[in-house]
Amino acid sequence: MTHNRNQMVTLARRPQGKPKREDFLLVEAEIPKPADGEMLIQTLYLSVDPGMRGMMEAPKSYSPGFKVGQPLTGRSVGRVVVSRHADFAVGDFVYERLPWQHYSVSDGRKAKKVDPNVAPLSTYLGVVGVPGFCAYFGLKEIGKPRAGETVVVSGASGAVGMTAVQLAKLESCRVVGIAGGAEKVAYLRDELGLDAVVNYHATDDLRTALGQACPDGIDVYFDNVGGDITQAALSLINHHARIVICGQTSQYNHPSESGKFAPELLIQKSALMQGFVVYDYEDRNDEAVARLGQLIKEGRLQHRENIIEGLENAPQAFIDLFDGKSFGKQLVQLVQTT
Ligand SMILES: NC(=O)c1ccc[n+]([C@@H]2O[C@H](COP(=O)([O-])OP(=O)(O)OC[C@H]3O[C@@H](n4cnc5c(N)ncnc54)[C@H](OP(=O)(O)O)[C@@H]3O)[C@@H](O)[C@H]2O)c1
Repeated sequence: MTHNRNQMVTLARRPQGKPKREDFLLVEAEIPKPADGEMLIQTLYLSVDPGMRGMMEAPKSYSPGFKVGQPLTGRSVGRVVVSRHADFAVGDFVYERLPWQHYSVSDGRKAKKVDPNVAPLSTYLGVVGVPGFCAYFGLKEIGKPRAGETVVVSGASGAVGMTAVQLAKLESCRVVGIAGGAEKVAYLRDELGLDAVVNYHATDDLRTALGQACPDGIDVYFDNVGGDITQAALSLINHHARIVICGQTSQYNHPSESGKFAPELLIQKSALMQGFVVYDYEDRNDEAVARLGQLIKEGRLQHRENIIEGLENAPQAFIDLFDGKSFGKQLVQLVQTT
């Protein structure tokens, strides 16, 4: 163990609108002791996810809400440092949803061993973790892209979006990303080879800009952000379009301002709109890991991480998600692993 005391990030109060530093507190506590059948996990990486914002409200999103005064929880990768559990040994690496703290006790029921020889530990929170699974299952099971179709992905420079655009390219689709800022646009176009990228910060008329990037309309819209971007995309859908609702990041800080949804459009275009939570496909996670891992090995799937160090910086990393400051999978590293 490398610390004498535990440190945790708690929710100090429920954020109003965009989260602020004062909404979070860094608190010290004793390091908990595992009982028989339990283990002590030292967290190495925390995943910083926009969906956590919904959990800071009263519990109405797809996960149970956070409690004021209690630590935030999130997807984490850690190392077993004490074990009184028959199935886990000291030194094992595990993935689990854990409190945002250095040390956590686990009964192992929801812990999954991860192997750094198969994929780098951090990627179990990104491209071979939930964001990768969202892209994989959202496209495969709902978007069902066919060669030659136009696939549009919002939040294309984020962890989910970046994987979704590449998987759609592998299906020989015309792929259009939507992102904010010249650096992200250049990466998506030049590094990932997208057919077009719309910089939504650089236009007052998103519908026209997106229309120019999609001369044949939109067959699959993979939505990570919602709001005006989604309204623009929906206005361009083709007959039998598929609309994959993965996330609504632009709406998380302003839940009452959700964009105007036009169900009549779905009728006019005989289109399918379907939301999902990644846990719908939990029993198929190994399939996704195998496919995504294989593509990475073959050099056909790239990923990008934005790793900052120190638990104390986790609240700011979360706040920055809503300012477009993160680029790729946002992680916090608590301990050096080598
Ligand atoms: N359904 C599920 O089970 C499930 C599971 C995990 C995640 N999700 C959701 O999937 C979405 C993507 O997750 P992620 O892990 O890829 O997140 P991420 O890495 O934070 O990326 C999201 C992207 O959204 C963009 N963005 C942020 N604020 C925006 C705004 N106001 N308007 C437009 N774009 C904005 C940012 O890029 P720009 O700089 O280009 O704005 C960012 O790159 C999130 O909404 C998340 O909650 C769903």
